[in-house]
Amino acid sequence: MQTKLLPIILLISVTTLLTACTESTISNPSNKKDTSIETKQQKNEVILPEPTLKNGDHGEEVKKLQTALEKVGYKLTISGAFDKKTTEAVKDFQAQQVKLPASGEYNKATKQWLEKALTGNFEVEPGKGSVPISNPKETVIVDNPSDILVLVNKSHALPSDYIPNDLIAPNVRFPFTQDLPKRYMREEAAHALEDLFKASDKAGLNLYAQSGYRSYNRQETLFTSYVARDGEEAANKYSARPGESEHQTGLTMDVTSPDINFNLNTDFADTDEGKWVKAHAHEYGFIIRYPEDKVALTKYQYEPWHLRYVGKKVATVIHEEDIILEKYLGAL
Ligand code: DAL
Ligand code: ZN
Repeated sequence: MQTKLLPIILLISVTTLLTACTESTISNPSNKKDTSIETKQQKNEVILPEPTLKNGDHGEEVKKLQTALEKVGYKLTISGAFDKKTTEAVKDFQAQQVKLPASGEYNKATKQWLEKALTGNFEVEPGKGSVPISNPKETVIVDNPSDILVLVNKSHALPSDYIPNDLIAPNVRFPFTQDLPKRYMREEAAHALEDLFKASDKAGLNLYAQSGYRSYNRQETLFTSYVARDGEEAANKYSARPGESEHQTGLTMDVTSPDINFNLNTDFADTDEGKWVKAHAHEYGFIIRYPEDKVALTKYQYEPWHLRYVGKKVATVIHEEDIILEKYLGAL
């Protein structure tokens, strides 16, 4: 509320201000109003605009945002137009703080962190947060995104606008109650997952689904925040670049167990649920996409929880021959 009533005025350079005050004592003995001091102070004041601002917006408020971004180190034209460069700067800024989704939109949380950056309470390195784009020479955009056997990996990406058109929520247990996109899968895969859960229930187990469909934008937000936290190389061992995640296909579900507090980590492999999934997932059309002994080939860490639907026939071949999807598709 307070921030609404009182625009936040930030004095950027305390040193300059003190110098100005000192100058006023020396150079203005007659106590006349010294307008040069005001000019100096105004130069160093940044008034943050009220949220929300986003791509396409225009005006004085956008200028205030651009001025603030410039003060913390971004090279921008103070044009008043929330253009691509401004969006990129906002995204880059957000990506440097794990608590901020890199949406590119100037919102309340971004304002708070920008305020911290302006007062020196949050260090920003412009450019550090940008989402690294795969080398376009090495990455192909697949032309069969809705194929059940689509190959998605570090060299085969989905189109950024691909959204499966038959997403449904499988009738299985989740450790959360909200109707989130991660509850969804493509229809065929969702029904196969229901069968897998029924069979594991019969075996007396307590399997949970944790994370299914993920949009390109959500993957971008996640990956960007991981890069800001761990660096690109480390992040790309456990998280896919946007476009390169199988979660965008709607054919994948991460599964877990109450024994490991519903986490997604390698301890899952040692739970009864993890052991059962490893032995039986193929019978329902799923493969463990990133096996422990194939890290050099998949280029991702061991993920005993990440199940990819490929259909019973292919899953059984992959399981019995102990190979990965790339090998099956002749893409190694
Ligand atoms: N964790 C897998 C690699 C993903 O981000 O899709
Ligand atoms: Zn996964």
